[in-house]
Formats: sequence, C-alpha cells, structure tokens
Amino acid sequence: MMSKKMLDALNEQIALELSSAYLYLAMGAQLDDENLPGFAHWMKVQFQEETEHGMKLFDYVADRGGRVTLEAIPKPQTDFGSPADIFKAVLEHERKVTASIHRLYELALAEKDYATQAHLQWFITEQVEEEKNAEGILRQIQAMEGKAHLMLMLDRHLGARKAD
Ligand code: FEO
Repeated sequence: MMSKKMLDALNEQIALELSSAYLYLAMGAQLDDENLPGFAHWMKVQFQEETEHGMKLFDYVADRGGRVTLEAIPKPQTDFGSPADIFKAVLEHERKVTASIHRLYELALAEKDYATQAHLQWFITEQVEEEKNAEGILRQIQAMEGKAHLMLMLDRHLGARKAD
C-alpha cells in the first residue's frame, strides 16, 4: 500500500494526463475547422495517447490497492492561434507534464516507494519522446512559414500518424 501523499500525487497526475487529452482534442477541433485534417488527426492520436497515460496510472493505483479519485478537468480554450502557436502551446504543456512527472519521481524516492519509482520510469522516457515530437513539428512549421504548399505536405505527413 502506498502512502496517502503518494496516492494524492498520483491522482493529480491522472487528472493532468486526462486534461492533456482534452486539451489536444480541443486543438484537434480547431484544426478540423481550419481544414487541416492531418494536423487534426495528429491531435486525435495524441488525445488517445494521453488517455492511455491516464489509464496506465489509474490501473497502477488500483493494482496497489489505492483508491482512484477523479479531479475536475479544466475547460480548454477554443482558439489557440496559428499552427505554430498551437505547437508552441503543445511543447510548453509537455514541459509542464515532464516537470510534474519528475516531481512525482522525487516524491517516490523520498517515500522509498520502489514500485512507484519503477512505474514512473516509463513516463520519464515517454516525456523525452513527447517533447521531441512537439519541438520537431514546431520547427518544421516555423521553417515553412508563408509557404502554403509545404504546410499542406506537412498536413498530409501528420495525417499518416499511427497510434503507438
Ligand atoms: Fe502524457 Fe503528453 O504527456
């Protein structure tokens, strides 16, 4: 059984992962509306991934005999600006998630909670990928600014993203 402090922190992380899912779905809605179906598809795959991240923690808490309690998910904004603004916001959000995972890990170390440390290793590695992906797409968009045909090619490329 994990400590109450660890349990509360994991429940907060579940809410952060599920609010990430909701945030990316809101971005997908805007991109669909702007006729960028490939970008929108990328966001919908990201929505699924974030839901899986939340569920990985949900199942872990339950496996350890803890009680999952769901927190409120904030309403996302409806307009995130240009595609470059959107991916800047994705990168910023992922950095926030990384910091939160690292704080969780520090707590697991302080609590000598070895099982939680082991479980969080996956998330630490995943965050490297999450930040790399967001930054890579942002840099591509910035390199294409003002070149509509290249943006359409990138849209097609992002539309081919498969769920992991
Ligand atoms: Fe679940 Fe994108 O962090």
